[in-house]
Amino acid sequence: MTLSLTVLISGAGSNLRAILEAIDAGRCDASVRAVISDRASAAGLALATERGVPTAVLKLSDFASRAAWDAELARTLQGYAPDVVVLAGFMKIVGEHMLSAFDRRILNVHPSLLPAFPGTDAPAQAIAAGARIAGCTVHVVDGGVDTGPIVAQAAVRIMPGDDADALHKRIQRAEHLLFPAVLHGLARGTIALPSKGSTRSGGEGPDDHAILVSPQLDTVP
Ligand code: GRF
Repeated sequence: MTLSLTVLISGAGSNLRAILEAIDAGRCDASVRAVISDRASAAGLALATERGVPTAVLKLSDFASRAAWDAELARTLQGYAPDVVVLAGFMKIVGEHMLSAFDRRILNVHPSLLPAFPGTDAPAQAIAAGARIAGCTVHVVDGGVDTGPIVAQAAVRIMPGDDADALHKRIQRAEHLLFPAVLHGLARGTIALPSKGSTRSGGEGPDDHAILVSPQLDTVP
């Protein structure tokens, strides 16, 4: 089944580009129905327009309340009837309207091996903590910040001398492979989203079957 997607962005849109390129290359059986941004300046909007994908901008500051913004976001997305809502560098926390409209069907990519280093500046957090392995996580969005059930993770080395930018770029190369692969797995039915009520730490959920991509052990000196 071709997976129908709507993608939410706030910035560069490199994950959006990676998903579109994977679709073009036949590595991701999905179709991007619309790209929505909370910022008019998000570079990813131009990328969507170039490809003929409909776009919209919903700025939180244009709404009387966060709840009103969240409701309009949910209403707009429902118009495209997506199977999955993809958060690809979307820098806002979605609320109850979004969570109930797309229950367990919102996926985010975060630049750390969650549950380590949630929130902003995850690569900088990893370096400051002296970690040697970083990575990225595709997870289901729940009401918390980077707390939902983990679907897949890819590990990335932290090299001596890395600053946050260098590490983030390396992590993003992994994101660009992992996110389309997860979406393809959902389309194929080889990956399932969690059952209702599952949490990261308990119950029957994807954490029990999460996909892990790790550095090849044969490269260890
Ligand atoms: C990604 O690194 C992602 O992990 C984080 O925001 C960044 C977005 O990058 N949530 P882009 O806009 O996809 O280039």
